[in-house]
Amino acid sequence: MEITIQKIDEIIGRYEKSEESILAVLQDFQREFRYVPEEGMKRLAAILNVPESRIFAMGTFYKALSLEPRGKHTVKVCMGTACHLKGANQILEAIERGFNVKRNHTTKDRLFTIESVNCVGACAMAPVVVVDEDYHGHSRSSKVVDILKKDN
Ligand code: FES
Repeated sequence: MEITIQKIDEIIGRYEKSEESILAVLQDFQREFRYVPEEGMKRLAAILNVPESRIFAMGTFYKALSLEPRGKHTVKVCMGTACHLKGANQILEAIERGFNVKRNHTTKDRLFTIESVNCVGACAMAPVVVVDEDYHGHSRSSKVVDILKKDN
């Protein structure tokens, strides 16, 4: 969704103009824009008449909120012990090379956000890569890169 001042104002306008609404507004930014844009936080601070630092602090505190643009797809490469032992790092490096992106960042075309995560609870299928909600077990670098290219 395109970020416009009208859309930002529409989201802010859904809630009472009170400090208690801050988290709800930030969550709506996250849902609609897939991240919390800086301009949204500034606008919210101005409208609620609270310091920007307060809003930014909340934006960074809650793990479910991302201050960086997110990709259309989230790719989680499990780096837990079982996956690590079975070559998860090579998979992550192959993705970084194949899509010119660093772990825990988003590709320039905003298609993929690549995350290295702790055990996703499927150790028997190690190494595991989770693309959005889909678990890919016994992954190999080449297979994962192919799957992502097909998701384009
Ligand atoms: S360590 Fe990767 S699923 Fe458990």
